[in-house]
Amino acid sequence: MVDCNIENARTFIDEDEFQNSRTKAEQALQQLKSRTGPGSEWLGWRDILVDPNDAELEQISSLAARIRDEADIFVVCGIGGSYLGAKAIIEALSPHFNGKGPEILYAGHHMGGHYLEQLLDYLKAPKEDGTPKNIYLNVISKSGSTLETALSFRMIREVLEDLYSEEAKEHIICTTGEEGGILNELIKEKGYQKFIIPDDVGGRYSVLTPVGLVPIAVAGVDIRTLFYGAVSAFNTYEEDAESILDYAALRHAVHKSGKTIDVFATFEPELTSLGGWIQQLLGESEGKEGKGIFPTVATYSTDLHSLGQFIQQGKRSLMETFIIVEKPFSNLKVNQLPKDNDNLNYLSGKSFHEINTKAREGTIEAHVEGNVPVVQISIKALNAESLGNLIYFFELLTGIFVYSLGVNPFNQPGVEDYKKAMYRLLGK
Ligand code: PA5
Repeated sequence: MVDCNIENARTFIDEDEFQNSRTKAEQALQQLKSRTGPGSEWLGWRDILVDPNDAELEQISSLAARIRDEADIFVVCGIGGSYLGAKAIIEALSPHFNGKGPEILYAGHHMGGHYLEQLLDYLKAPKEDGTPKNIYLNVISKSGSTLETALSFRMIREVLEDLYSEEAKEHIICTTGEEGGILNELIKEKGYQKFIIPDDVGGRYSVLTPVGLVPIAVAGVDIRTLFYGAVSAFNTYEEDAESILDYAALRHAVHKSGKTIDVFATFEPELTSLGGWIQQLLGESEGKEGKGIFPTVATYSTDLHSLGQFIQQGKRSLMETFIIVEKPFSNLKVNQLPKDNDNLNYLSGKSFHEINTKAREGTIEAHVEGNVPVVQISIKALNAESLGNLIYFFELLTGIFVYSLGVNPFNQPGVEDYKKAMYRLLGK
């Protein structure tokens, strides 16, 4: 299961403060379990783990196996909670180079014309043998009306219709709410295949519904193992949530002490997008009513050479949460040179995992010394099961922590404000 070590943060918190926060976290957990907190109609992310939809897991897996066989490209078109979870798991578990199966590309998460134009050209361009690329498009939008996603969908749809005429509908998979929204009207009109996002699961809590599972399965990840990793975490924490309660209490006390930023840091580049998923999950849930700790993401050592100075010595408004994988997932070792002309032979024979681990331990030591409270969250291995554990760990942590702030973790009223202004300026 997930290991959560708060010792390097707790020393910064007064014991009475911690215990007050701990009581609030316990009350928050009760609110979640008894469905008495604000937004309790959005607790479907827990319910899907109590009663897994094995038939749907099977349906998605067999569709994905067929697409993996046939497709050259699979486009994931969505924004926010409609794509960040899939991207996190796909990037964590896919090879960096020369992966098998279709190339996974993303669209619909911004309105940069330069990117979209190049994507459309790339999709249109035939393969080396002159035949058209076999492209599948998964458009994901719970509301079915998000402008960024809808615009990209319109443009990519046209390319698929030009390439495949009547057959285009076989290449388009839609994931949306059961009813309502323009996307549902298009599905009816064109006959696209549809997966449903349950009404009671909000976007950022939806990675274990078809929202995340379809793209993740197409990327070759065993979604049953991922899903059941989350089920196993659910069962564990229903029995004993002490570690999450401690972590939520710690975050609550840190928030109360006036710290405003939580840097989610990893020494594994594979986990950068996982940081993005955590950032949205927490940020969109807690950042309301003038409250919250701003979650941000850093990948080390890369960002030690950009943000490291600030984290070590800048304004003391930070806490830091390290996401750690215990088991090495690379055996690469430093080679030995006959002539030590770069003075690195002292590392010969050591694995990069060992060196990276020492860099992490040294960084934690230095940052704690620099008065940054540090939390360490560790999963056992970089695999589907451990990531399933971690997904539920962070979903539950978010629910508990945000309730402990007295805020509804499941809405996002502030996101509407930019939309209103944008639509006014666009003359809608
Ligand atoms: O977490 C959320 O609810 C949001 O991030 C949504 O997922 C995001 O705004 C996309 O919305 P939709 O799926 O309706 O296009």
